[in-house]
Amino acid sequence: MRITVIGTGYLGATHAAAMAELGFEVLGVDVDPTKIEALSRGELPFYEPGLPELLLKHTATGQLRFTTSIEEAGAFGDVHFIAVGTPQKAGETSADMTFVDAAVSGIAAASTRDALIVGKSTVPVGSARRLKELTQQHKRPGINIDFAWNPEFLREGFAVEDTLRPDRLVVGTDSVVADQKLRQVYADALSRETPYISTDFETAELVKVAANAFLATKISFINAFSEVTETVGGDIRTLADAIGYDARIGRRFLNAGAGFGGGCLPKDIRALQARTGELGLEKSMRFLNEVDEINLRRRDRVVFLAEQMLGELEGKRIAVLGTSFKPDSDDVRDSPALDIAGRLYGSGADVRVYDPKANANSAKRFPRLTFVESLEGAVAGADVVLLLTEWREFRDMKPGDIEGHVQTRRIIDGRNVLDRTDWENAGWVFQALGQKTSDLSAAAV
Ligand code: UDX
Repeated sequence: MRITVIGTGYLGATHAAAMAELGFEVLGVDVDPTKIEALSRGELPFYEPGLPELLLKHTATGQLRFTTSIEEAGAFGDVHFIAVGTPQKAGETSADMTFVDAAVSGIAAASTRDALIVGKSTVPVGSARRLKELTQQHKRPGINIDFAWNPEFLREGFAVEDTLRPDRLVVGTDSVVADQKLRQVYADALSRETPYISTDFETAELVKVAANAFLATKISFINAFSEVTETVGGDIRTLADAIGYDARIGRRFLNAGAGFGGGCLPKDIRALQARTGELGLEKSMRFLNEVDEINLRRRDRVVFLAEQMLGELEGKRIAVLGTSFKPDSDDVRDSPALDIAGRLYGSGADVRVYDPKANANSAKRFPRLTFVESLEGAVAGADVVLLLTEWREFRDMKPGDIEGHVQTRRIIDGRNVLDRTDWENAGWVFQALGQKTSDLSAAAV
């Protein structure tokens, strides 16, 4: 069985390399020639632990190749995975399906052998059935094309592991042949008794958005309680630990802080609301509007704390530690940290930024921020230090590591990863999200 992966961004490049690792001959396809040239040389245009090694290993033997030619893909593949993006439409909340539609109709038209098209992109419910129709309209006479939807749950930073060893596989299809072929593709995971959920198109599409909506809700749930503990006192981390021991709740995704970002959670909850709105079901997903708003209010809170600590932001030197939307990633799409850094700059602060991997991507979006290549460089002369993405380097940071560099010992822990007592004992004014504001104005003197 030969496999193509159409769209070689985060999802597609990882999927292509993982399929090669499983022993398949794989062809990755993208419309961007620069990306294809880089991938063909075994170079990854983004940071993802473990993926460069896999890419090099399989491009070196020719088991994994890349092309811009959809015709070549149509002549080559038995199974075509669609992994192109569904970004938020400009000025709207719904998902832009242009790339998925083009990929599906393009590969259907180009297929010169019987094949299976498998959608992996995150799409509005109802898309798979429509795309299956599109396939039938575009395919060549005499060629059979099956269709399935197989959502992807990979997390950035763990993409290789999540693809090679998924916690579940979900396949939506109305074709027995498609289901059998996908069981062959995923034989390795199935041999380890990975749950395989065979279902209809709509359920498969909804599983993905429901999972992301649930995760976003969990984060905003604890962040909403942060707003309460910030007023009444109490410790948000202990609260999360205590409810997390209840197996029905679970501790994961209850880390209070600057909130969620990235290429999936924010856009997916908005697209889900847009889609259910189209279906006349506004009320069903209306709570996600609150989830989004709670999330965005966390950014306001960080800016507010900085203002309270500094008196005013104009002319103050602020160290921002971390701009990626989460650690172990260079992705800054919808990153709370980068948004906060930009807003502080907009208020006249002198913002010095250090992210272990995301400086370059951040500079493309906010070229006016000052980017430095080390933690010491960022905190040099700082009036306040902001920890906004919990890279290990920042989580392990001790007061003694940076106190000789800063102007004034003030710190805001935007991810609840530092030990308040350590910092206060070392004479720092310390503030974390979800903790009651101490006398910050006194700290401003
Ligand atoms: C997410 C889903 O987890 C994944 O299954 C899906 O395929 C794509 O979207 P990802 O975007 O890589 O993956 O990031 P994730 O690890 O889910 O984190 C999302 C955001 O939530 C990050 O900004 C992170 O900092 C934030 N987060 C996460 C919290 O603020 N608190 C938490 O407790 C957990």
